Amino acid sequence: MASVIRRLKGRDFLTLLDFTPLEFKALLERSKEHKWGLVKSNVLRGKYVAGIFEKPSTRTRVSMSVATFDLGGVFLELPTSSLQVSRGETFRDTAQVLSRFVNAIAARVKSHSTLEELARWATVPIINMLSNKFHPLQALTDVFTIIEFFGSKKVKIVFLGDGATNTNHSLMIASALAGYDYVVGAPRDYWPDKEIISEAKKINEQTKGSLEVIEGPIEAAKDADVVYTDTWFSMGISDIEKRKDLFPPYQVNSNLLSHAAPHVKVMHCQPWFIGQEITEEVAYGPHSIAFEQAENRLHTAKAVLEVLSI
Ligand code: CP
Ligand code: NVA
Repeated sequence: MASVIRRLKGRDFLTLLDFTPLEFKALLERSKEHKWGLVKSNVLRGKYVAGIFEKPSTRTRVSMSVATFDLGGVFLELPTSSLQVSRGETFRDTAQVLSRFVNAIAARVKSHSTLEELARWATVPIINMLSNKFHPLQALTDVFTIIEFFGSKKVKIVFLGDGATNTNHSLMIASALAGYDYVVGAPRDYWPDKEIISEAKKINEQTKGSLEVIEGPIEAAKDADVVYTDTWFSMGISDIEKRKDLFPPYQVNSNLLSHAAPHVKVMHCQPWFIGQEITEEVAYGPHSIAFEQAENRLHTAKAVLEVLSI
């Protein structure tokens, strides 16, 4: 694994599509070493990470900054409202200028193309802290958490609700890299991006995983080891009324869980909206591992910062 880790140095982290199953596994193993305290605590000493935020964040912002500080580095919080981009400076210039000061640029952006523009012009790695299309830090954590609970079992993950979210797109890819079975249950108008489905299927051919997208929530949930959901109203969406009409049958509640495996674990990237995509009894009930999942954001953030970026 050490040679795989070495070849990740300096790479961008925009989407998990840029990583092989072996590279993904190396990141998961390094995350475990961070969680278990097996990595030197000062690996980021003298290193600076710029954290650009175009959108709000709790878990990602705090896990990335605590991870950097914990490893001896400095994380600079840069909401775009306080950068010159708010007055029209380009991301091209921002990337070039920041590259002269810092060792990595992490960004949460409205449009994925902003990350691509940053990556095009920066001379340091760019880390995706969420875009409209992908949320790879989240999906890395999700598989890490699944392995903690299920070991090497080939699990069936069922994602219900808005299949076109950043979270689902990245988890479809992460699941394929890990060789899992993955079913999306979503209204047809909110099925995942076709290109991402096709990329995930290509990976599944190598890893013997599978991916299916269907409409029926109950049918999807059958025998699930993991039921996963995300908000129906992601940051930046506009078709609120249509979503209010179409998503209620996809709510993760006790009835839905009765169709899953008895040992099912419920996951959510959070923030969740109780009473919408998930009920209170399920969110805070015995099947939920959402807070373990949230905690793991710290350990996987450390691995990404250390292995890829610095
Ligand atoms: N899951 C996640 O990314 O949470 P935040 O929006 O709080 O960062
Ligand atoms: N899909 C959600 C994820 C939040 C972490 C959003 O983009 O708002």
